[in-house]
Amino acid sequence: MQAQLNRILEDAKARISQADSREATEEIRISLLGKKGELTQILRGMGKLSPEERKETGQIANKVRSEIEGLLKDKSEELKTLEKEAKFRSEKIDVTEPGRPAVLGVKHPLTITMEEISRVFMNMGFSIVEGPEVETVFNNFDALNADPNHPARDMTDTFYITDDVLLRTQTSPVQVRTLMSQKPPIKVISPGRCFRCDTPDATHSPMFHQVEGLVVDEGITMADLKGTLDSFAKQLFGTSTKTKFRPHHFPFTEPSAEVDVSCFKCGGKGCKVCKGSGWIEILGCGMVHPNVLKVGGLDTEKYTGFAFGMGVERVAMLKYGVEDIRLFYENDMRFINQFK
Ligand code: DAH
Repeated sequence: MQAQLNRILEDAKARISQADSREATEEIRISLLGKKGELTQILRGMGKLSPEERKETGQIANKVRSEIEGLLKDKSEELKTLEKEAKFRSEKIDVTEPGRPAVLGVKHPLTITMEEISRVFMNMGFSIVEGPEVETVFNNFDALNADPNHPARDMTDTFYITDDVLLRTQTSPVQVRTLMSQKPPIKVISPGRCFRCDTPDATHSPMFHQVEGLVVDEGITMADLKGTLDSFAKQLFGTSTKTKFRPHHFPFTEPSAEVDVSCFKCGGKGCKVCKGSGWIEILGCGMVHPNVLKVGGLDTEKYTGFAFGMGVERVAMLKYGVEDIRLFYENDMRFINQFK
């Protein structure tokens, strides 16, 4: 029996030294010291021995047992340390590794243009208001003094959602909303998206952007309109820019005008950008029609105002020399990245 104990010990030493995981040492422990373990069986069988033999063998067996337990404990601790080190190694963060650059987007040229236009007006004391792209027919046409037979109301010109609701064809309905919600002095601009039933080509798109403007107060005159828009043109296109006001017609302004700026490319001599005329048309404007002021419940003997509206795409195409409006909507990064 003693020989058997010695063999178990030698065996255990060999197995423990080869164990390569804590699970393996646990298996060894169970196979030797567990309920059905080899050593446990021997200790159980000791009852058959004589008292002397039992004492001697018992001592040896206990020594073997505690030696095996010690070896298992040491091995398990050694493996625990190794496992921890391996874990540290696999989870290590190399702080010296160069970072991955985050890809930063760029502003869309139309956003840049709208922000530039807005900045100029904000510097002149205008605040920004917004209106919805889905509008009522009333706000888009009736309240703006467009009579029921106005050609712009035609199904072939305007996207109707119902008989009374449409995709706004201009930002001018924001004038109506502002007049109904604010009291003078009013001094606002409103950049936004508009929609018209146009077939896309180099200069037309069924979706485009405008910036609307509205000033209403006591004693506002055509001189305020001309001074404000002349100053705007000089700030946007350069201080040597000249402006020209040509009579025009809009239902919601009286008198109405279109504004041309001297060509910022050739200075007025005539070139490809201004099609040889030296002038470039940039916006429509006028003194707010009394019928529009009445929508806001204003006393038209006391209050007057001016309004204007410009196409953002047109300004951006002129400023950046973009020859096809469709380039703005294709989202080709080779195009957009040029405006970094
Ligand atoms: N809404 C007009 C258009 O889309 C532009 C316009 C002209 C706006 C004159 C105005 C204005 O506020 O006074 O063609």
